[in-house]
Amino acid sequence: MYNLLKGKRGIIFGALDENSIAWKTAERVHEEGGTFVLTNAPIAMRMGTIDVLAQKTGSQIIPADATSLEDLENLVDQAVEILGGKIDFVLHSIGMSVNVRKNINYTDNKYDFTQKGWDVSAVSFHKVMQVLYKKDAMSEWGSIIALTYMAAQRVFPDYNDMADNKAYLESIARSFGYFFGKDKKVRVNTISQSPTATTAGQGVKGFSGFIAYADKMSPLGNATAGECADYVVTMFSDLTKKVTLQNLYHDGGFSNMGVSQEVMEAFERGLEEEN
Ligand code: NAI
Repeated sequence: MYNLLKGKRGIIFGALDENSIAWKTAERVHEEGGTFVLTNAPIAMRMGTIDVLAQKTGSQIIPADATSLEDLENLVDQAVEILGGKIDFVLHSIGMSVNVRKNINYTDNKYDFTQKGWDVSAVSFHKVMQVLYKKDAMSEWGSIIALTYMAAQRVFPDYNDMADNKAYLESIARSFGYFFGKDKKVRVNTISQSPTATTAGQGVKGFSGFIAYADKMSPLGNATAGECADYVVTMFSDLTKKVTLQNLYHDGGFSNMGVSQEVMEAFERGLEEEN
């Protein structure tokens, strides 16, 4: 370990269970000397095992629905008080689509579900930043990260309305990142992660085929949740102070591939079997 986050304080959203990307990140941040509060939606407290993580990392848990400004205001006030100063790093690791959950095809989306998923998965990032900005709760050279997926740029049919939510999320990172950079010297980025076997990930239809395909397409193979945590740590550290307004691919090279030898061979074998 490198003590990259020694003395830094943060807020980590979205650790549900030990598979969560936020869970792995909390563990790595703790190893690097950072202190933080953990937060999740009140319902996730009952479904998940966040208590175990809190104990392991010596952190307090503050429940907050990320769509509620009131909850977020309370969260930020409490975090500053508990941690003893302004916030240096924030991880937004939140995603949910009701249309995906209910197995509703993209072309049949129900708009009240669309709106709910958009609010949770995208607008919540604006809300988190607006509360931090208005309360002047971020330290200079602080770092804010949200997690995203490449369906924001390219078509993955079963990713459904989450593709649109991610596109919106990435745009918020740029738009708010401008003001946060100019006014407070805070950087804002999104990390576009490989498919990862988590509760949210496995909710996507056909996930096992999807993750295996991405692995075979990527020259370095899929990035794991633990590797994503490592990357987030570097983005929270002082070694990346001038990186902002970026969508950073953390995907083993997948996003720049056309086709790989392995995928081509598997496809050809499939064609031979068909004939
Ligand atoms: P996860 O299911 O462990 O985490 C999603 C979290 O969102 C949960 O902790 C859940 O309680 C939280 N959440 C849902 N509604 C909320 C609300 N109203 N307020 C506060 N929190 C709420 O799954 P994972 O994969 O760790 O997801 C984290 C992020 O990574 C999400 O943004 C996801 O879209 C993104 N991502 C995931 C990939 C994957 O394949 N698993 C790939 C690329 C990005």
